[in-house]
Amino acid sequence: MTNLIIEDKQNLSYDPEKWQQGYQSQPNEYEYFIEDIEGKIPEQLQGTLFRNGPGLLEVQGTPLQHPFDGDGMVCAISFLPNGKVHFRNRFVRTEGYVQEQKAGKMIYRGVFGTQKPGGWINNIFDLKVKNIANTNVIYWGKKLLALWEAAEPYRLDPKTLETVGIDYLDGVLNPGGSISAHPCFDPSCELDNGQPCLVNYSIKPGLSSKITIYEFAPDGKLLRCHSHVVAGFSFIHDFAITPNYCIFLQNSVNFNPLPFLFGLKGAGECVNFQQNQPSKLIIIPRTPNDEKIKILETNAGFVFHHVNAFEDVNNIYLDSISYESLSQVNLDTDYKEIDFNNIDPGRLYRFKIDLESETVNKEMIDSRSCEFPSINPKNLGRKYRYLFIGTTHKDQGNAPLQAILKLDLLTGKKQVHSFAPQGYVGEPMFVSKPNAASEDEGWVLVIVYDGDKHRSDLVILDGENLEKEPIATLHLKHHIPYGLHGNWTSEVFI
Ligand code: CO
Repeated sequence: MTNLIIEDKQNLSYDPEKWQQGYQSQPNEYEYFIEDIEGKIPEQLQGTLFRNGPGLLEVQGTPLQHPFDGDGMVCAISFLPNGKVHFRNRFVRTEGYVQEQKAGKMIYRGVFGTQKPGGWINNIFDLKVKNIANTNVIYWGKKLLALWEAAEPYRLDPKTLETVGIDYLDGVLNPGGSISAHPCFDPSCELDNGQPCLVNYSIKPGLSSKITIYEFAPDGKLLRCHSHVVAGFSFIHDFAITPNYCIFLQNSVNFNPLPFLFGLKGAGECVNFQQNQPSKLIIIPRTPNDEKIKILETNAGFVFHHVNAFEDVNNIYLDSISYESLSQVNLDTDYKEIDFNNIDPGRLYRFKIDLESETVNKEMIDSRSCEFPSINPKNLGRKYRYLFIGTTHKDQGNAPLQAILKLDLLTGKKQVHSFAPQGYVGEPMFVSKPNAASEDEGWVLVIVYDGDKHRSDLVILDGENLEKEPIATLHLKHHIPYGLHGNWTSEVFI
């Protein structure tokens, strides 16, 4: 048995113990100019990369059951016109974070299973949800907003990352309301004469689910808002848009809230994937008052993230990362001890939705394990050719994300830039060059956790030739725990 484990370990592209260290909390807040740089920072790269993710993996000594329960910590990496790069990170001072820091103990249960110490008696009927603001961070309408899909956004100062407070989007949300952490940025909205707009949604789950779609102008003002009720409980983490439609994939899950109510499980643990039941594609026209919603069934697997969608004659194409099954969040297993061999990898699929015949055709684009896609933002909702996505070092099996894959959807050509064995990647961010002539002419920014040095790097890869040496590697002075999502803005904040 021992020999088997050693042999297995030798075959791995990574060291499990070092991978686990990327889940250590980062309680410190820093601000400094990054000086330890290999390569050369492109002169034209100016702006700010904002990223969000769990910064604490325990609360006052009580470890979290799931990293998604961790308090949101936002990083800002600013590329200045003088070639200097500045790093800053701050915790979002949510009500819960401030309360727990002050009390010196865990006050809230986590949605993904983290229970307060003291067993069920201390958790029963405690439905207080802690807004952890840890999933995404966007800059829109002159506001920097930390997003978490089950509650209101928190507004931050984009220069200092100080928390301003809960933001109701100029009265669009009510106290206790929520908005998703996965807005879509329409680069050129046909309903607004080609102006950019931000499209987002909120879900009120229950026996049926209410989906509300919001579209915001560049100044943050609400342009359009419409609600639709669909049958069944919904777990919808992300969506996609085209010029005319919003597309939702209603995963095939059911929800049994009793263990949550009785203090035995977190809400996330009560969502059960129903492998043998169809998923539903919900297609909602973006024009308000258009009631022509289509709901089409397909065997989608389980989807967290979509890459992109586009229209072509009577078809909508939707590219998504799908898992054959969703392993249950489980109280009895430590997330750091997961056996990647026992978990289905995320794979890239294309759904061809024929609006006339109301049929869906699902096809695998690539079998390689992947997650956290990025595309050129100019192609969002439109036909596109290139995608950049986190992937495993090996082209088969499942493992932590250690590489970035560039896929040419036209030719099928692939390029992989691997950081194995010591590097672990997060979501890549494609930033187009000013006046770029081709879709892939730009930079791919990615935060890489270095398990050997227990610190993180910001790596700049060449979008046109991903495989070549990084254009620059900026070594931070510390690590950033594995993060979730973020965004780039060409405005420089410092
Ligand atoms: Co997400």
